[in-house]
Amino acid sequence: MDLKKLIIKDKLPRHIAIIMDGNGRWAQSRGNMRVFGHQNGVESVKQVVEASGELGIEYLTLYAFSTENWNRPRAEVDALMGLMVKTIEAQTESLHENNVRLTAIGELDDLPPAVKKQLQNAMDYTSGNTGLNLVLALSYSGRWEITSALKTIIEEIQKGNVDPGTIDTCLIETYLNTSNIPDPELLIRTSGERRISNFMLWQLAYTELYFSQVLWPDFRKKDFYEAIIDFQRRDRRFGRIKEQLGTETVKYQG
Ligand code: FPP
Repeated sequence: MDLKKLIIKDKLPRHIAIIMDGNGRWAQSRGNMRVFGHQNGVESVKQVVEASGELGIEYLTLYAFSTENWNRPRAEVDALMGLMVKTIEAQTESLHENNVRLTAIGELDDLPPAVKKQLQNAMDYTSGNTGLNLVLALSYSGRWEITSALKTIIEEIQKGNVDPGTIDTCLIETYLNTSNIPDPELLIRTSGERRISNFMLWQLAYTELYFSQVLWPDFRKKDFYEAIIDFQRRDRRFGRIKEQLGTETVKYQG
């Protein structure tokens, strides 16, 4: 069956976020080093980027490296960073040709210079594109992001630029890495794990969660379509009752 045909075009999520999990297990089950799983995960990245562009999804955020991932063995961290450089370099032209705009969230200053340079180059090169916004979460965690926002807000209060009486959810959002990005409507996590793992903690408040059994290196367009179809069958109520929906625009007001 052509799953793509089951997707309702005018009910697409604007923003899909993905926790790409299961690379290590995929490689180890084949008797290979964990990095082999990460290398093969790049094909899955290409598949979801391509599928998102074809469908007309506006934002796709990929959790590529968490703050906690720095604690992995040095060799794995180095291999992952090397893979980032290689992949971004190899894909920049193709992203550009497909009108994809690349951005990133996270503590980018902590990345090795080669990754930062390649990433900056790709972000600059694709900055004028108007199709899919591909957001890489690198050295990112939700608690880090909220803590950074809090620190900046306190600094601004001390400088007299922010009146504490004006602090509300809208103001806090302007200090997050995602200030110009709508909250994800759909979060996909692969590999059967059912956790958020410190990803977009603020932004996922009303997000639909979808857990796939497929390990990330095996994740293909059809798996992505399945997640979107499942999402489109859900009732999203934002704390309201079903009868209120459809009669007015429902936006989470915090
Ligand atoms: C989690 O699997 C995956 C990662 C920590 C890295 C994912 C990164 C890529 C696929 C490279 C993508 C590159 C770009 C430029 C987007 P895991 O190692 O935690 O798997 P496990 O749970 O089986 O151990």
